[in-house]
Amino acid sequence: MYTQGLDQAGKSDPAKPGPETREQLDAFQTRIDAEEKIEAKDWMPEAYRRTLVRQISQHAHSEIIGMQPEGNWLTRAPSLKRKAILLAKVQDEAGHGLYLYSAAETLGVSRDQMVADLLSGKAKYSSIFNYPTLSWADIGAIGWLVDGAAIMNQIPLCRCSYGPYSRAMIRVCKEESFHQRQGYEIMLTLCGGTAEQKAMAQDALNRFWWPSLMMFGPNDANSTHSAQSMAWKIKRFSNDELRQKFIDVTVPQAEFLGLTVPDDELRYNEETEHYEHSDIDWQEFFDVIAGNGPCNKQRMEKRRKAQDDGAWVREAARVYAEKKAAASAAA
Ligand SMILES: [Fe+2]
Ligand SMILES: [Fe+2]
Repeated sequence: MYTQGLDQAGKSDPAKPGPETREQLDAFQTRIDAEEKIEAKDWMPEAYRRTLVRQISQHAHSEIIGMQPEGNWLTRAPSLKRKAILLAKVQDEAGHGLYLYSAAETLGVSRDQMVADLLSGKAKYSSIFNYPTLSWADIGAIGWLVDGAAIMNQIPLCRCSYGPYSRAMIRVCKEESFHQRQGYEIMLTLCGGTAEQKAMAQDALNRFWWPSLMMFGPNDANSTHSAQSMAWKIKRFSNDELRQKFIDVTVPQAEFLGLTVPDDELRYNEETEHYEHSDIDWQEFFDVIAGNGPCNKQRMEKRRKAQDDGAWVREAARVYAEKKAAASAAA
């Protein structure tokens, strides 16, 4: 059992060396540099294990909490077809949570512990899921922008040095690309509809644009964990590189929809072939991470209630497993 505390609050340094020898660390780095996958039973530095537990569990929690803003519209989807698609999407997110909790468990942390850390507030999840979904267009904007940003982040993770995480990401990314398309298709439909529908789509873009850019995390200069994660090939691109890729891909999509990205300073630089944008309001990001976003309290309350409501299922499963074990011991 892995018992060390998770570095969720960034209080301890995940790159701080453990009791490993220089030779062990060098041999490990040689394997990483040779693009070998590290598997669950392989030797690894304690800080590598800690970093992965933090990242994978945070990712799993984001998938599970991320079901809430969209779940909010399941009973109000505008048609049976829209409802069936959204239901499938939300169920996919539950599945992503399950693959990721399983991947984290291969590092010796129990799912119970990870869930306990989420519920106590010790573990974090993506800041984006603390924003409300006020209209049906938000479901389109989330699929297009939030799942779109998730894909940018996750495609390089298919090549992550830790085998179980990288393999989980391959399937997750296939499903995320369906999510992104379903969201964009909702936006396309709204933008081709009445003036009121188009205004709804614009309003959703206005509210989700900046929080989506924040999903990539702080600027490189202020990102605590990036350099070591890059050296270990857990991360392949920096936060700012991924954010730039996302902006470059997404702005033309907004133009195709006939929508305006809510940034007066947004412009294409012919020389660099990248879009330039105004500064991100990092204070908002840090406030949301600290628990003061519009929906943090509500998200956690709902999650705690789900955990309490499901207690009888876990208890029944435990008693059943005990009975089965007793019966096979007696046989
Ligand atoms: Fe997902
Ligand atoms: Fe998704």
